[in-house]
Amino acid sequence: MTSLNAPLTFVHGPEIKNRFMLSPLTNLQSNDDGTLGEDELNFLVKRAEGGFGLVMTCAASVHMSGKAFKGQLGCYADDHIPGLKRIATALRAVGALSSVQLHHAGGRADAALNGGQLYGPWDDEQRGIKAMTTAQVEDTIQHFINAAIRCEKAGFDGVELHGAHGYLLCQFLDERHNNRTDRFGGSYENRTRIYHEVIEGVRAATGPDFQLGIRLSAERYGYSIAIARQFAQELMTGGKLDYIDMSLWDSFKLPEEEAYKSKMLIDWFTDLDRSHCRLGVAGKLLSAKDVQACLDHGADFVLIGRGAILHHDFPQQILANPDFVSQSFPVTPAYLAHEAVGTAFIQYLATAWENYVVKPPVPRD
Ligand SMILES: Cc1cc2nc3c(=O)[nH]c(=O)nc-3n(C[C@H](O)[C@H](O)[C@H](O)COP(=O)(O)O)c2cc1C
Repeated sequence: MTSLNAPLTFVHGPEIKNRFMLSPLTNLQSNDDGTLGEDELNFLVKRAEGGFGLVMTCAASVHMSGKAFKGQLGCYADDHIPGLKRIATALRAVGALSSVQLHHAGGRADAALNGGQLYGPWDDEQRGIKAMTTAQVEDTIQHFINAAIRCEKAGFDGVELHGAHGYLLCQFLDERHNNRTDRFGGSYENRTRIYHEVIEGVRAATGPDFQLGIRLSAERYGYSIAIARQFAQELMTGGKLDYIDMSLWDSFKLPEEEAYKSKMLIDWFTDLDRSHCRLGVAGKLLSAKDVQACLDHGADFVLIGRGAILHHDFPQQILANPDFVSQSFPVTPAYLAHEAVGTAFIQYLATAWENYVVKPPVPRD
């Protein structure tokens, strides 16, 4: 049985002191120009103080065109570096590794924030999305690489590519829609090319101690579990990545696909040959038993989202108490504020996520 407190090494960079990573959490606490906001910094530092071995930022935009959220942290301009540096420095001071999640929303960007035109791998007239030209795809690859360079300059231990949840990279993987006829669409090889070019570009442009991970989705985004497994396997043995973060939403559920219902979703990824690449899982890990079960099923580490919103010290609580069970949603704004969740994040949780924040009572006449 692997201990949750055991350090874990990576091919590149320093080891993580335990098996807990903060899952990337969009929190809208930065400024509209993508520079760091104080509440975002405070939220992240509190999680490091609470025992997370690695603290990942929210999905941070690599380019204006891919902005999806007001108040989204940016790493698309040199003006963002001082704020990023504050995060990296503060996290290191409390003994946590640091990573920025690099994000481009593609067709799921917000036209009110991204300059007005949505771009994705294919045309979607109904949603106002234009297919990127080959040159635009190549520019976007460069935007990811430039963002990683900025994060390294700022002192981060690494970056994670957001390759999941139907955002730009994941849109390229979609076998239902990505019928592009250039080298970025059609066949499996072409649909995965953008990932490989970003990964190779980031590796080539950053130092030997810079950690590179990727978040992938297992199902729901236009490719089968067979493809998700094939791709995860290819990346694990490709020798470029330090870790894969499988975003499962519910780690112990059975897959949607009939042919894969013989075992839990997590087990379809822990059984791959991961070579030197580490494997983390995220999704509905809300107790000490859930977290330990992931390691027992063969994951190297866990990523905690909602549990970390509810408890800034989720790792410390679990390490101290094998029976720990997270508080559940909904909670009051005061509860969240006490856990270093700022006003903008509370507002986001109250409006975009169902039943996370207790609604104030409706006044009677
Ligand atoms: C408020 C909120 C914001 C999120 N933001 C991101 C994000 O920026 N990037 C990402 O990859 N996933 C994001 N997720 C997904 C989480 O990282 C995590 O994978 C998911 O919530 C499942 O884990 P959990 O059950 O521990 O919350 C978000 C989830 C929530 C609830």
